[in-house]
Amino acid sequence: MIKKALLTLTALSLLASAAEARTWDEIKKSGTIRIATEGAFPPFNLMKGNQLTGFEVDLANALAQQLGLKVQWVTQPFDNLLIGLNQDRYDFVIASHGITPERQKAVDFANPHYCTGGAIVTHPGGPMTAAALKGKTVAVQVGTTYLQNVSKVPGVGDVKTFPKDTDAQAALLAGRVDAWVGDKFTGLDLVKAQKGKLVQGDLLFNERIGMAVKKGNSSLLKELNAALAKVMNNGTYAKISGEYFGQDIRCR
Ligand code: ARG
Repeated sequence: MIKKALLTLTALSLLASAAEARTWDEIKKSGTIRIATEGAFPPFNLMKGNQLTGFEVDLANALAQQLGLKVQWVTQPFDNLLIGLNQDRYDFVIASHGITPERQKAVDFANPHYCTGGAIVTHPGGPMTAAALKGKTVAVQVGTTYLQNVSKVPGVGDVKTFPKDTDAQAALLAGRVDAWVGDKFTGLDLVKAQKGKLVQGDLLFNERIGMAVKKGNSSLLKELNAALAKVMNNGTYAKISGEYFGQDIRCR
């Protein structure tokens, strides 16, 4: 009886360790770090042809270089990213996740790699403020802080969710919704590209954006934070940020 119980315990602990995230030592030994992103959230992470690019892709590549590692990129729909992380399909996620108390229950976040906010974009004459969203139809990407915050706006009309942020933008352009709420930098680019057809309204909320590791993977978190601090201090971060935004978007 006791023997059997012991065996079961051993089997369980083996299973548990097989399902554990790779520690820093294991990643370092392998020489390659597996990083996941969405690849559909310009200008932060996107596909250009079959090439993954964007501010966060360049930044994460710089972090890996700093850590002396090669990178294996994995792309996943936004809504699956943190689930896959907890299934150990990759070592960390960089996909513009706002650091929220809800997400902090599921994963651990690195120090923020940029600060931003959620802002309204609409057609000229459309709703520009939270108060003006009363009774209006708003498009947002599913699983995001935009959905969370727009849903809290008193009296807001229908909040339509889309698997991809770019689809939510397309709904606004097609006139199927009154407004789109998304990242303020993304919104600026969108308004610029649409030349007078869209305008940016109020900022609804601010957020700090961080990379996520599996809950408890403190050895990897420590290395990521150290590498981030290095590139923030040696000019690399400022250079990449300048290329995408014409300014340094780190949190201050
Ligand atoms: N910052 C928002 C959030 O935290 C949106 C992130 C969307 N990221 C993406 N790769 N689509 O939910």
